[in-house]
Amino acid sequence: MPVPHPRLHSFAEYEEAYRRSVENPEQFWAEVAEPFTWRRKWDTVLKADLVGGHNEWYSGAKLNITENCLDRHLATRGNKLALIWEPNDPKTRQIRYTYRELHQHVCQFANVLLNNGVEKGDRVCLYMPMIPQLAIAVLACARIGAVHSVIFAGFSATAIADRVNDAQATVVLTADGLNRGPKQIPVKRVVDEALENCPSVRRVIVVEHLGWPVQMREGRDVWYHEEAREAAKTCPAEEMDAEDMLFILYTSGSTGKPKGVVHTTAGYMVWADYTFRNVFQVQENDVYWCTADIGWVTGHSYLLYGPLLSGSTTLLFEGVPTYPDAGRFWEVIDKHGVNVFYTAPTAIRSLMATPLDNVLSYSLDSLRVLGTVGEPINEEAWHWYHTHVGKERCPVVDTWWQTETGGIMISALAGISPLRPTHAGQPLPGVQPVLLTQEGQEIQGNDEEGYLAIKFPWPGIIRTTYGDHERARQTYFGPYPGYYFTGDGARRDSTGLYRIIGRVDDVINVSGHRFGTAEIENAINQNAHVVESAVVGYPHDVKGQGIYAFVICREPVGKADAGHVEASIIETVVAEIGKIAKPDKIQIVSGLPKTRSGKIMRRILRKVAEGETTNLGDITTLLDPGVVEEIIQGKK
Ligand code: PRX
Repeated sequence: MPVPHPRLHSFAEYEEAYRRSVENPEQFWAEVAEPFTWRRKWDTVLKADLVGGHNEWYSGAKLNITENCLDRHLATRGNKLALIWEPNDPKTRQIRYTYRELHQHVCQFANVLLNNGVEKGDRVCLYMPMIPQLAIAVLACARIGAVHSVIFAGFSATAIADRVNDAQATVVLTADGLNRGPKQIPVKRVVDEALENCPSVRRVIVVEHLGWPVQMREGRDVWYHEEAREAAKTCPAEEMDAEDMLFILYTSGSTGKPKGVVHTTAGYMVWADYTFRNVFQVQENDVYWCTADIGWVTGHSYLLYGPLLSGSTTLLFEGVPTYPDAGRFWEVIDKHGVNVFYTAPTAIRSLMATPLDNVLSYSLDSLRVLGTVGEPINEEAWHWYHTHVGKERCPVVDTWWQTETGGIMISALAGISPLRPTHAGQPLPGVQPVLLTQEGQEIQGNDEEGYLAIKFPWPGIIRTTYGDHERARQTYFGPYPGYYFTGDGARRDSTGLYRIIGRVDDVINVSGHRFGTAEIENAINQNAHVVESAVVGYPHDVKGQGIYAFVICREPVGKADAGHVEASIIETVVAEIGKIAKPDKIQIVSGLPKTRSGKIMRRILRKVAEGETTNLGDITTLLDPGVVEEIIQGKK
């Protein structure tokens, strides 16, 4: 008899699990890992190192994550729906795969990769639409032990090239084009442009989606459907070590260059599954929908791996919340009888701004649990979601975590833990959060605020940054040796619930997407008009934070030319990073507030961007205090 996965059913069970996870973590995580399919069990549950950042889980174990996502369900859930695909256009045919069908598709794709020379350990970049083949391709990589690196299909050619080169990928998977609401985007053309500068890539496999004509480069590019004709629908899973790399996912930090966050096989699997089961409390016959794109970590852990590991039915949506109208999310929920719905605060805020009828026209009776992720949710959005979508009967879990944590760290467990709007809540079992002072002292007690850090490893902890472990060490383990540093500030309320306040480093969170200010500045500085720039975040009603750029130009820019220069700067950012990083406001200035040592005082720029111009604090240490007045006068 297979051992069932433990699941927490009550607050008392949560408290007991939490206690055990702290008192005896190795025994706790050995029990949680027991029910998975292992080719070989581990020698050691945990090798912890929060100083050098060399953490290992389940060392010595052998497994393949896709056997756990697919094969082991075939006996009991072979005919259960694994994946439902809802297309961009509601009039297009939906696609539904049972676990057995998904297994076959993954094996077939895996064979196509093998036939094209992909080997265990090779890096494969995916730049694809939200179609079933993206989910299948990710799993196909994992099946044969190739490392997947999914690049969100909104990034520019330059951004793709940076990521492909950093990973030294040999193969790129893409499609002819993609749908995004009313627009179609020629994805293959973007890839072609990127690959002009990527010598490591020797094969591009193209999935036909829109039926568009594309340039196929002889000797490099092949069509997936042609390759699939010869490919068998069975494929043995490659045996992987627990600590073999599963994927790389690029994310922004406070330096200019995005870093490749590396997750490995066993720990990530256990963490994605455990957190998914317990936070969302998904039941056997539920339809579960996470609206995140597979290009972000939420799509990895909670659209794909978490739901499939636990044998759930997961919905994959190609479109956007506002197409063909702002009722689309709610229409899809009614259409498929979605029970658990997980989305981003920015989506809620954008829909809140549309007429209430868009949501009231749908019954939403099937919903039982709601979730949010990616950024702080404001009180108003929380209540709107709880009242109009959840009809006051669905718990809203506000899940805090990061690309680097692999899965949810702090969150209520649906229907089990206390909810407090705008508060993520309590740590999951195995997560030991602390608040630190700037000097690194732990702050005891409740009703306190500080830097959020984690003082014990959990199975999903980041293993390294690809090709540069020192960078991972410095970023996450360097600031406070002995702790994983999150980069977030948090408050612990009087009952011990955590509320995430926001980043304490130079990272801004735009619609739940992370950008380093330096990364956007680097892009802006590529523009021929620009000498120097400084970027800060400011509160934005829908996006959470907007991007405000202060820019010094080579030549004085008169009022008449400002529009042209700004448009040109935006174009540069779109080319360097992608539309998602477009500055919301650009202010051309003659100087930036700098200290005598040349450091930009972002504190002042942030205040100006926020509209706070009277209480700027001490500016006497500035090299030229006069620029502040000019900046205030020119504020957008
Ligand atoms: O600042 C926190 C914010 O998003 C950051 C992580 O971004 P990323 O790695 O892109 O992952 C997003 C999806 C997990 C965090 O450092 N963040 C994430 N979730 C929340 C949040 N802020 C407040 N509340 C949340 N629930």
